[in-house]
Amino acid sequence: MSAAASLDARSPVTDRGAASAPILKTELLSVRFGGLSALSEVNFEVARDKVHAIIGPNGAGKSTFFNCLTGVLRPSGGRIVFDGEEITGLRSNEISQRGIARSYQITNILPNATVFENVRIAAQSRRHGWNMFAHHSALADINRKAEAALDAVGLLGKAEELAANLSHGEQRNLEIGIALATEPKLLCLDEPTAGMSQAETDATKELIKRIAENLTILIVEHDMQVVMELCDRITVLNYGSILAEGSPAEIRENPRVLEVYLKT
Ligand SMILES: Nc1ncnc2c1ncn2[C@@H]1O[C@H](COP(=O)(O)OP(=O)(O)OP(=O)(O)O)[C@@H](O)[C@H]1O
Ligand SMILES: [Mg+2]
Repeated sequence: MSAAASLDARSPVTDRGAASAPILKTELLSVRFGGLSALSEVNFEVARDKVHAIIGPNGAGKSTFFNCLTGVLRPSGGRIVFDGEEITGLRSNEISQRGIARSYQITNILPNATVFENVRIAAQSRRHGWNMFAHHSALADINRKAEAALDAVGLLGKAEELAANLSHGEQRNLEIGIALATEPKLLCLDEPTAGMSQAETDATKELIKRIAENLTILIVEHDMQVVMELCDRITVLNYGSILAEGSPAEIRENPRVLEVYLKT
């Protein structure tokens, strides 16, 4: 067998870190809720350092897909490989430690903690679990990471505010900051611009563009302007199955996608 052929035959586990290997891969991923198939044998890949969108009608299975990737839900079948390691069925804290973070469709912050505490807790959970006896320098390191995450989402100036006092748009961006504080390799954003004004949407779009320079992003988003401008690749889900996949230009012109989703 030639060296190239033996490389091609490698198991996913030894692909770890290879720049050309997808950072995330699902094989025949399925989720059933009683009689309802929310996801049916989904084969999906995310390339490293790209922004990849999942779009599709309400109820298509987009959030269910994120729930499987992040350990909120255990799939009924299939597997998930992240960065060369199988993560199917791991708990959400184990998946977070391997480098997948997410923001939720519905804001998921601690309203009575300060903005800084919200991100500091996230930075700590990734690095040191809940060990209160961590060394002083480790705590300084956590504080630096929390500050960097707040800076990335433009909220450093509001670090001492209670999270409850932020505007809706700022709270959504704080959620992205909380996800970033865990230093993920893959950031999953579930409808980051939902409920935002046009000005907030534009600012968040720029924020995501900046963040995307340093990590891979998987985004569920209904705002097609945001999707078309931000994303390298788009997957269209419909009734739990992949209906189409391609570049923004290909998806915009795909007749099946126009019929089920992009109808004007
Ligand atoms: N925990 C659950 N128990 C039972 N059914 C569920 C559960 N979560 C989701 N579903 C169902 O699974 C299907 C997929 O839901 P999901 O939330 O993944 O859709 P979505 O694509 O994120 O939709 P939206 O665009 O409205 O957010 C829907 O029919 C939904 O009602
Ligand atoms: Mg959803």
